[in-house]
Amino acid sequence: MDFALSADQREIQALAREFAEAEIEPHAAAWDREHRFPRELYAKLADLGLMGVCVPEEYGGAGADFLSYILVLEELSRADAGVGVTVAVHTSAATLPILTFGTEEQKARFVPPLARGEHLGAFALTEPEAGSDAGALRTRAARDGDGWTISGAKQWITNGTYAGTFLLFARTDPDTPGARGVSAFLLDGEHVRVTRDEEKLGLNSSITNDIVVEGARVGRDRLLHEEGRGFRVAMATLDGGRIGIAAQALGIAQAAYDVARSYAKERHTFGKPIAEHQAIQYKLADMSTEIDAARLLVYRAAWLKQEGQPHTEEGAKAKLFASEMARRQTAEAIQILGGYGYTKEFPVERYYRDAKVTEIYEGTSEIQRLVIARSVLGLRQAERTLAQG
Ligand code: CAA
Repeated sequence: MDFALSADQREIQALAREFAEAEIEPHAAAWDREHRFPRELYAKLADLGLMGVCVPEEYGGAGADFLSYILVLEELSRADAGVGVTVAVHTSAATLPILTFGTEEQKARFVPPLARGEHLGAFALTEPEAGSDAGALRTRAARDGDGWTISGAKQWITNGTYAGTFLLFARTDPDTPGARGVSAFLLDGEHVRVTRDEEKLGLNSSITNDIVVEGARVGRDRLLHEEGRGFRVAMATLDGGRIGIAAQALGIAQAAYDVARSYAKERHTFGKPIAEHQAIQYKLADMSTEIDAARLLVYRAAWLKQEGQPHTEEGAKAKLFASEMARRQTAEAIQILGGYGYTKEFPVERYYRDAKVTEIYEGTSEIQRLVIARSVLGLRQAERTLAQG
């Protein structure tokens, strides 16, 4: 067992940290206040290879491993969690599934522009009536000659406005309800119409949209993986994506801890720094311990994925723990800063707002517990069906 990062991993971590401290963190409060998506930032990240960190060089990426990518997400999210989710969805949920499930032609055509940051990627699974129950999706891909005509509405699509490639899930077999009968498609920005910008509690530097697809005609070259096997593409994609969201939560919690720790050393009450009061010491000790625990879960899940080992359960555990920890500990950071923590003068209220969503998207905490329980209980589909009556 080796807990040390490799020289390459440390180098990429330092690169991401330096960039985030210089180019992201100083603007994060304004982007949050103005609800501004910093489009120009992604060209700079692309110049550093950070829009395709773990994509092989032959497809336009930086050729680093998956853990390096997770380190980048942690650093970006520490500066601005909105930037973190933009890069996470672009990479984990749009670029990597094309590498995993695409034909050679699809990989060569769709991955390089994404990995080079020429356009952003989006993941279109969720619908107004298909969130946690993703298999209930109704977007329809009807057979049309040698291809399909796709129509439907998707909701809460990160990057929607700016995306050039959408991984979109639609029902190819209307007679099969649930997860079977769903297929995955690669659509262009032109196939999609954005109908709304969501107004959110936090993550205001990211964009979240409602979109519609209105009779988009696509050929077989747009089908990712086999017809009727799209739900497996979605689930396998989310297995990796959840590790990215866990890293985002970790970065947010680390940022909150950093602020709370330095504040505690400077702020005086009752004649001494509050860091010398045991009540505050206990809070900082718990924060530091929980952040460490989350980091170990996140890095282990990332390592399993890059080793090609099963990581469904471990990714769900990492996301479950890191997201709930981030929500708890960003609240504790506000508590340590007291009244100041509740104001816009310090960034901890933003961290608190940003942390909350990590318990919701890419599968709620309840869904993570379901995934973990099915795994530890060894429940297969047939047994689950029996158990659910
Ligand atoms: N890998 C590969 N295949 C998998 C899988 C996995 N981890 N998990 C399930 N599957 C397969 C099953 O084997 C099954 O395939 P077959 O029918 O061929 O045997 C099929 O998928 C259906 O599986 P289930 O019976 O387990 O499906 P279910 O209907 O019971 O749902 C669920 C399972 C875990 C609840 C799933 O619906 C789920 O994960 N829901 C949450 C959805 C989610 O995370 N949405 C996030 C939206 S994206 C987002 O948030 C991005 C963003 O903007 C940040």
